Amino acid sequence: MAHSHEDPEKIRYVGDSRVRADRPKRYPKDYSEFPGKTELFFPDFLLREWMVAVVVLVGFMALVFAHEAPLEDIADPTNTSYVPLPDWYFLFLYQLLKYDWSSGPLTPIGTVVIPGIAFGALFLAPWLDRGKERRPSKRPVATGAMLLAIVAIVYLTWAAVDEHSKNELAQGGAQQGGDGGDIAIVGEDSEGYEIYQNSSCVGCHASDLSGATAPALLGVGDKYSEEEILDIIDNGMGAMPPQGDALDPADKETLVAWLAQQKAEGGEGEEGENGEGTE
Ligand code: HEC
Repeated sequence: MAHSHEDPEKIRYVGDSRVRADRPKRYPKDYSEFPGKTELFFPDFLLREWMVAVVVLVGFMALVFAHEAPLEDIADPTNTSYVPLPDWYFLFLYQLLKYDWSSGPLTPIGTVVIPGIAFGALFLAPWLDRGKERRPSKRPVATGAMLLAIVAIVYLTWAAVDEHSKNELAQGGAQQGGDGGDIAIVGEDSEGYEIYQNSSCVGCHASDLSGATAPALLGVGDKYSEEEILDIIDNGMGAMPPQGDALDPADKETLVAWLAQQKAEGGEGEEGENGEGTE
């Protein structure tokens, strides 16, 4: 800058990070409107903002490494019982659409009106709330509205998760018809499992053998011998069309051997739950 230090027209950027710091600071001398309440944008203000950003980023990265993103099964277009669920941070909006007063013809209440009022108020807050007070206790309306919103979001998120897991439990029980409920897949790291995942079978029997449009194959080794399973694959069975031609002969052999190993007592004793890793 060509201007001198005393130039009254010189622009100063002033930051307010709302963090009290008692150490002596170098205040811009000519910012007389707020004596003693300002600090230099560079480096004082920027440095502090930057340090906060680093702490948040590093903490976030640590969380990402500690917790791998949970993935569900491969998408299965034939599974009509699958209930898609939004990510957790949208669950409260999702739950909002489930009530009588916000569903059916009233859906716009849950999609436009309520979120519109909430986010609109947040957007307009600087104009709606002109008070000079900064302490939360001295701003009952703003503080109350915010607390109410937080409670509502927490409750709705919890309600959505709770409802979903209850549905899933009920469905898991119905789909597997009582038996086979706690039979686990055997040999999930074997070649047979791999071949199964890439075969036509998954479309009807599901990738975790739990069955979809076709019956579950969990524990199928208790029911059929290798020869019988091979026969079912080659010749079909009832509503199941023959699948033999779609498989490489060597792969078919491995697949059949693996399916014959699917026995109830062969599982690693995984009791309880419903066989489909919740969460
Ligand atoms: C188009 C859908 C479909 C495909 C693809 C399919 N199946 Fe099936 N499968 C069925 C149906 C439906 C049944 C039940 C038939 C019946 O009981 O009438 C069945 C039954 C079976 C059974 C007997 C289960 C029991 O408990 O009686 C076995 C074993 C089986 N399938 C294995 C396979 C294998 C292995 C593949 C892949 C190579 C496969 N299926 C591909 C639909 C399919």
